[in-house]
Amino acid sequence: MVTFDLAALPTCTRCVLSVTRQRVVVGSGPTTPALLIVGEAPGASEDEGGEPFIGRSGRLLFRLLDEELSLRREDCFVTNVVKCRPPNNRVPHRAELEACRGWLDAQLAAVTPRAVVTLGNTAARAVFGGSEPMARAHGQLHPISGVSGLATYHPAAALRGGERVTQLLRRDLQLLAPLLAAS
Ligand code: URA
Repeated sequence: MVTFDLAALPTCTRCVLSVTRQRVVVGSGPTTPALLIVGEAPGASEDEGGEPFIGRSGRLLFRLLDEELSLRREDCFVTNVVKCRPPNNRVPHRAELEACRGWLDAQLAAVTPRAVVTLGNTAARAVFGGSEPMARAHGQLHPISGVSGLATYHPAAALRGGERVTQLLRRDLQLLAPLLAAS
């Protein structure tokens, strides 16, 4: 049986992304965060800096989380479905998703959040399954690891889609308020 000991994640070579990445972007945050955030894969800023969501998408994401839920980055555990940057930020290939899956499962088992949010199609499909377009999948709540998980738009889609998508993302995040308030 293959084991996914998180101590070995920074040196992972389970897929071809290990050849082109600068570093594995493991993810970080408290082990009992308010929110577990799952994105798609690191971009250029994250590959350079080693932390998820430290570029433009992350700035929008954490502004919306602050405005809608009074959450700061340090209240959240932040990670991605795929831990290494795909060249030119392409969507991760199936083999890469499969190779990386065990690391996400190990993180889901190690972290006890009050709620989970997935950002974009890749993360929603990896965590909750299904294949609906985001126009239908967003705003849906799914049980995951004993808590509720929300599928919503990726902040990069909001940056591309402007105010309309930003408002949808904002309203989806509001659905988390009662889940975060519950003890
Ligand atoms: N987009 C993602 O999905 N994850 C990151 O960490 C940065 C951008």
